[in-house]
Amino acid sequence: MKTIDLLAPPAGLRVLISGAATGIGAAIAQAFLEVGAHVYICDVDATALDKAKAGSPQLHVGIADVADRAQVDRVIEDALDKLGGLDVLVNNAGIAGPTGAVEDIEAEQWERTISTNLNSQYYFLRKAVPVLKETSRDPCIVAMASVAGRLGYPFRTPYAATKWAIVGLVKSLAIELGPSNVRVNAILPGVVEGPRMDRVISARADALGIGFEQMKNEYLEKISLRRMVTVHDVAAMTLFLASPAGRNISGQAISVDGNVEYL
Ligand SMILES: NC(=O)c1ccc[n+]([C@@H]2O[C@H](COP(=O)([O-])OP(=O)(O)OC[C@H]3O[C@@H](n4cnc5c(N)ncnc54)[C@H](O)[C@@H]3O)[C@@H](O)[C@H]2O)c1
Repeated sequence: MKTIDLLAPPAGLRVLISGAATGIGAAIAQAFLEVGAHVYICDVDATALDKAKAGSPQLHVGIADVADRAQVDRVIEDALDKLGGLDVLVNNAGIAGPTGAVEDIEAEQWERTISTNLNSQYYFLRKAVPVLKETSRDPCIVAMASVAGRLGYPFRTPYAATKWAIVGLVKSLAIELGPSNVRVNAILPGVVEGPRMDRVISARADALGIGFEQMKNEYLEKISLRRMVTVHDVAAMTLFLASPAGRNISGQAISVDGNVEYL
């Protein structure tokens, strides 16, 4: 056996990814397709799902608002049916939530952020874990947290609260599921270039009363490598965790962020 061979996930892995019609989830879906996996993606955006399916007809797709337990139950049932089981769960869906001082945040926005980013992860886990425990193919769970799950993030308190919670969930679940040979890790992306980050920078610039370019430069100054990461960097880490090279990695919160120093 050559070490390099450990880097390829086995062909035919059955993978379920939430919030994956666009963005990081879509890049993860493509990466798994490239290594011969069977991939089911779910998303709340029907138009984006149609586009994803048109671009990659071999994708299985299902519509669900991940904050709604009944919809998640339905989509998992469909995924298990289409995939014939499950080896990898990527709990990826998440929203930025509101930007503002804690006393100005609307309760509905707070609750929506918690349910979309955190409760959703539980909804997928409660149905997927019993299936993952039964698979013989080194099953794993990847939970998408954020650098905001490692550092404090002023004016984004609901988002940061969910991402720290995901790290706690992952560390606890890794201990719970280790004896069943299910690995559980969190990936903490930093500032990922793309339209979502442009929206985040814009909202923050508005909240602080400064321009977009100034805000963007302030973001880059916080990163030791002085650059944003790409969706492919995050997808590659997910593939690594699902490959034989990752088979002894569990309970970790892995940053892919160019070393963000503060937020
Ligand atoms: N982009 C970044 O800079 C960044 C940084 C750190 C962490 N993250 C995390 O990575 C994950 C993916 O982020 P992204 O940038 O790809 O997000 P995104 O905003 O691009 O959204 C990705 C997809 O999620 C879907 N989605 C949103 N709400 C949903 C819901 N309620 N139910 C089902 N699907 C829903 C959207 O329709 C979209 O197709 C999130 O958990 C996010 O918090 C992103």
